[in-house]
Amino acid sequence: MKVVAATFLKSATAAAEYPPPTLPEVAFLGRSNVGKSSLINSLLGMRGLARTSQTPGRTQLINFFEINRELRFVDLPGYGYARVPQAVRERWRPMIEGYLNRRSALALCVLIVDARLEPQPLDLTMYEWLAAMSRRFCVVATKADKLSRSQLLSRLSALRAVYGPGVLPYSALTRAGAEQVWEVIHAAIAA
Ligand code: GTP
Ligand code: MG
Repeated sequence: MKVVAATFLKSATAAAEYPPPTLPEVAFLGRSNVGKSSLINSLLGMRGLARTSQTPGRTQLINFFEINRELRFVDLPGYGYARVPQAVRERWRPMIEGYLNRRSALALCVLIVDARLEPQPLDLTMYEWLAAMSRRFCVVATKADKLSRSQLLSRLSALRAVYGPGVLPYSALTRAGAEQVWEVIHAAIAA
């Protein structure tokens, strides 16, 4: 897709604040600091659209972005960061689950994992939950630029053994993998 216009639409916590479900949505989820916002920016070729940070827990609301008046990207707050205050963490679960469970416009979930790490317990929980919900989803292994080619290949086979053969390597730094992720997005919104 040629991204002509991508704009921040709004932030929300509860369903009443979501924009009307008039366009297909692609939701990005993963552990805190894994690189969700960076993936969104690099897919769109727009630095700084979704706010990124070295501090985990940067994204605390559900943020909606609109692309070409054709589809929306939804940046979800990350899960699993211990240093985020308990009160904030308790708000996340209903916020994320509420969106994933009930959003009619949701066409694809992109579960983002760290290419350098073994499958993490919370990622596995999220993966199993997505599979059980029978939502269309894919798994993207980001920060691939931090690995050598041979390290990446061995990590990918370990991740694919758990998450299935469709795991896509990605780098927000180099945009390697962007075309493949867009292909999956196109297939989902055309379905
Ligand atoms: P929260 O909103 O806090 O949950 O984090 P997030 O998942 O949105 O992560 P974010 O995109 O803010 O990125 C976290 C940190 O990882 C930032 O310092 C990014 O620059 C870095 N980062 C993200 N993706 C990549 C990547 O593909 N390669 C490299 N080298 N760094 C990355
Ligand atoms: Mg973020």
